[in-house]
Amino acid sequence: MKITRFSRIGFIIAATGSAVGLGNIWKFPYITGEYGGGAFVLVYLVTVLLVGFSTMIAEMLMGYLGRMDTVSSFEKLAPAKKHLWKFGGFESLAGLFIMIFYSVVIGWIFNYIITSLTSLPATPKEAENVFNNMLHTDFTTQFFYHTMAFVWITYVLNKGLKSGIEKMNFYLMPALIIILAGMFIYATTLGAFSQAVAFMFTPDWSKITSEAFVTAVGHAFFTLGLGMGTIMTYSASLEEDANLVKNTFWVVFFDTAIAIVAGLMLFTFLYQYGSGPAKGPGLVFISLPSAFYEMGLLGNVFAIFFFIALAFAGLTSSVSLVEPMIKYFIDRFSWSRLKASISMGLFFWFFGIFAILSNIDGAKEYLTWGDKSFFDWVDYVTAAIMLPLGGLIIAIFVGFVIPKSKVESVMKSQLKWAFEPWYFSLRYITPIAMCIVMLSLIGIL
Ligand code: TRP
Repeated sequence: MKITRFSRIGFIIAATGSAVGLGNIWKFPYITGEYGGGAFVLVYLVTVLLVGFSTMIAEMLMGYLGRMDTVSSFEKLAPAKKHLWKFGGFESLAGLFIMIFYSVVIGWIFNYIITSLTSLPATPKEAENVFNNMLHTDFTTQFFYHTMAFVWITYVLNKGLKSGIEKMNFYLMPALIIILAGMFIYATTLGAFSQAVAFMFTPDWSKITSEAFVTAVGHAFFTLGLGMGTIMTYSASLEEDANLVKNTFWVVFFDTAIAIVAGLMLFTFLYQYGSGPAKGPGLVFISLPSAFYEMGLLGNVFAIFFFIALAFAGLTSSVSLVEPMIKYFIDRFSWSRLKASISMGLFFWFFGIFAILSNIDGAKEYLTWGDKSFFDWVDYVTAAIMLPLGGLIIAIFVGFVIPKSKVESVMKSQLKWAFEPWYFSLRYITPIAMCIVMLSLIGIL
């Protein structure tokens, strides 16, 4: 069988494309706003360095040693207990579940690209009405753009690792960076830039509740794209002499830098033209459009490019969320790529329809359980349970199940003195952090 591989740089770009997503540009700014800025950002940064970095190396190592789909890699690396450990590989299902709402949100972004071309809402109130009308009453628009996202993502996945995933990332990621850099440079010239810096980097520890703490830890995981086999699947095609530490460094660097740049830029615009740091998921869909309106003509241009950048970020992450399950069906059941791509695509497209309906007046009553709609449940179950569980499994698997000598034979020369601290963090720090996140998000702590 011919193995298609990423090029050396292609791997870093694709893994960065996976990491940089709606999490960085949509979610990070609004949860930073919600939890009061500086202290929250600091907890997030420390978690990325202490837990995220070491777990990403571990997940990359599993792909590098396993060389197969996630289920087979677990089996191959734990031959004695493969019937138990193979279930670790089914974490990849989390990616398909995430896509159920991720694709709907990409649909909203497509819709906003088009509406930014014609008109922006003049006041925050109007912006709120526009968003809420779409969310609660306009099924057709959401369905149309959700379907567009499904078609785009499935088309790229069907083209394969190199001419699909790598190629799309190769064009979209530089475009995304150029757009954000341009808008960021403009933001630095505005008076409110220093306010944004102060908001993001002056820690006010009184604002850190245990909930803020846990959200920061969970987000560090989500934003790096860890815990469900994306990195494991991508790294199954690494060259023999690949340097896992360097790869991880670049992915973590870009992911963090883009989150900070996007946050500083959005907060500057909101201080300068809007009503200051906004909270909640409406930040980029409600507060931002009216701030762009205040900015005048340039704001119109910015709005279009901003939503294009956001769509690019979402699309490059989407393919990484679906690819692990596609590889699973191709490797284990000899499905064609076409069959696997379309089946996985139809899965998230179909359930995505219910995610849309679960916000629509008249239908949502049937799709809400407890205090959460179907849309919110999918988000919650994946982020609160599946991803931390996946991270926990990966850390324990590399820390305790794969023989230390095998781990050492690859990692010692790359990590040098940092090998023991890394190994310690995998065995003890990451599992404890993940347990705390899960327990408190499901309400036990
Ligand atoms: N990291 C992406 C974001 O920030 C989402 C994502 C892509 C992801 N692949 C993942 C999250 C794997 C968890 C696991 O939006």
